Amino acid sequence: MSSQEYGELVKSISGADGISLYDICENDEIDLSEYEIIGFASGIYKGKFHPGITRFIEKHSGELKNVFLVYTSGSGALSYGKKLREHIVKEGINVLDVFSCRGYDTYGIFGFFGGIAKRHPNKEDISRFSAFLDKLVADRRG
Ligand SMILES: Cc1cc2nc3c(=O)[nH]c(=O)nc-3n(C[C@H](O)[C@H](O)[C@H](O)COP(=O)(O)O)c2cc1C
Repeated sequence: MSSQEYGELVKSISGADGISLYDICENDEIDLSEYEIIGFASGIYKGKFHPGITRFIEKHSGELKNVFLVYTSGSGALSYGKKLREHIVKEGINVLDVFSCRGYDTYGIFGFFGGIAKRHPNKEDISRFSAFLDKLVADRRG
């Protein structure tokens, strides 16, 4: 999987105050010292997040303190974040929360049928994501 344009969820927060976006497949040399919270977003591919995320976390584990995960998947399964979350916690990094919603999926047999979760992420997913981020920040500020 090569890097690509940001997905709908990430696009929805582009330009928001206090948020910087990076495509870590394009560039993983990022100075993380000025960021309080760092999120990783990806689609789910064969049950997993994009491998660039684990590579990045291994490379920067010493600089990561509080992270959250975001993913879209065709099935909408809530269990996809579990393995990566455990992996990150083992690195001694705090995982604040995990957000997920369905994402348009034309993979394999689903493509033949015109895809599943066709209209996702939709407006409701995006506003749920926005509320998720607001809460994350509010909880940090206490
Ligand atoms: C190669 C490939 C494998 C996928 N594997 C899964 C999967 O195991 N489970 C699932 O629910 N969705 C799967 N999907 C669907 C994607 O997770 C979904 O379309 C997601 O929204 C893609 O995000 P993106 O557009 O940011 O790449 C797969 C899609 C592709 C292209």
